[in-house]
Amino acid sequence: MDISDEQDPCPTGELVLQTLALPKDTNSNGDVFGGWLMSTMDLAGAIAAREVAKGRVTTVSVGAMAFLRPVPVGATVSCYCEISNVGRSSLTCNLEVWVKHYKWESQQKVTETEIVYVAIDDVGRTRPISS
Ligand SMILES: CC(C)(COP(=O)(O)OP(=O)(O)OC[C@H]1O[C@@H](n2cnc3c(N)ncnc32)[C@H](O)[C@@H]1OP(=O)(O)O)[C@@H](O)C(=O)NCCC(=O)NCCS
Repeated sequence: MDISDEQDPCPTGELVLQTLALPKDTNSNGDVFGGWLMSTMDLAGAIAAREVAKGRVTTVSVGAMAFLRPVPVGATVSCYCEISNVGRSSLTCNLEVWVKHYKWESQQKVTETEIVYVAIDDVGRTRPISS
């Protein structure tokens, strides 16, 4: 996957989740663990998808990801989401993660991916998304 922040001077989408990278989220290098970032992106996409689906959603697929730079402890992690498609029961969310450390002048893009959610009912069956 080829992603470059040189073409993206600022985030695409709406800010849906912002959090802080803590020591408990680090890998053995002392930088933030990629799995934590993926989980945070999944939560961010679900927040956006639930608003449109007006109810429960579940994650059905996650696109490829590349990590452009390490995330240091203490950085503010911001997840931006743009919903690119709403199907009968599915929603496609384009997610970007940007980070800003207080020592930096501006925030920097770390990764992006596409996550598809499906609207489900109380027993986990797909349900149509009403417009
Ligand atoms: C999500 C789930 C309910 C879908 O069930 P299903 O029988 O595949 O449902 P359907 O075939 O009717 O597909 C429903 C929608 O999902 C889409 N979809 C299904 N598999 C997909 C995939 N791999 N990628 C993208 N979209 C997919 C379909 O295109 C369809 O979209 P539409 O209604 O907008 O046209 C079922 O697969 C499931 O429960 N998966 C586990 C989800 C989960 O637990 N996620 C958490 C991570 S463990």
